[in-house]
Amino acid sequence: MIEFIHTTDDSRCAFTTHLADESETERMGAALAAGLHAGLVIHLVGDLGAGKTTLVRGSLRALGYSGKVKSPTYTLVEPYAISRLDLYHFDFYRFNAPEEYLDAGLDEFFSGTGVCMVEWPDKAAPFVAKPDVEVRLDAVDSGRRCRVSALTEAGQQCVTMMKSELLTNPPRQP
Ligand SMILES: Nc1ncnc2c1ncn2[C@@H]1O[C@H](COP(=O)(O)OP(=O)(O)OP(=O)(O)O)[C@@H](O)[C@H]1O
Ligand SMILES: [Mg+2]
Repeated sequence: MIEFIHTTDDSRCAFTTHLADESETERMGAALAAGLHAGLVIHLVGDLGAGKTTLVRGSLRALGYSGKVKSPTYTLVEPYAISRLDLYHFDFYRFNAPEEYLDAGLDEFFSGTGVCMVEWPDKAAPFVAKPDVEVRLDAVDSGRRCRVSALTEAGQQCVTMMKSELLTNPPRQP
């Protein structure tokens, strides 16, 4: 069963769940895909190896992309043109200073209609766009704890869709 956590003002529409293995992280990414729409910014927060790229792969697969999903650790951004939307996958881990985000000229990606999914957003703060949805992944036992919160109205729409998708077909629980 999925454990939904309602925060004090409930407007963050937050919930947590446990993801027992890689396939469940992909499943969570697929649920997120159900709520993605033009212009959304998703921040993916968690330590090295937390499963951020795995989650993006799950979203891309659900959107019909069957090619390789590479980590953008060296390229900073990997673009995907999928039938329904443009998706940009970022990874700012290698930034030594947040100003490198400005130097890289990535701002234009965030002002268009594409969906931006960002690993290591804190490395580009305060310059990178604030999130509509934040997904936090933490290692627990051999799996991951996943917390999803909506920070804007657009994000709430996305998380609501994601919740109903998960209730229809929830990840296995330990
Ligand atoms: N729910 C899960 N339980 C156990 N292992 C998982 C889970 N989800 C993903 N993994 C595994 O975690 C490893 C790291 O995943 P991934 O590359 O997606 O992490 P990341 O957060 O993108 O790391 P980085 O910050 O280095 O980019 C992979 O081997 C993947 O199979
Ligand atoms: Mg990664």
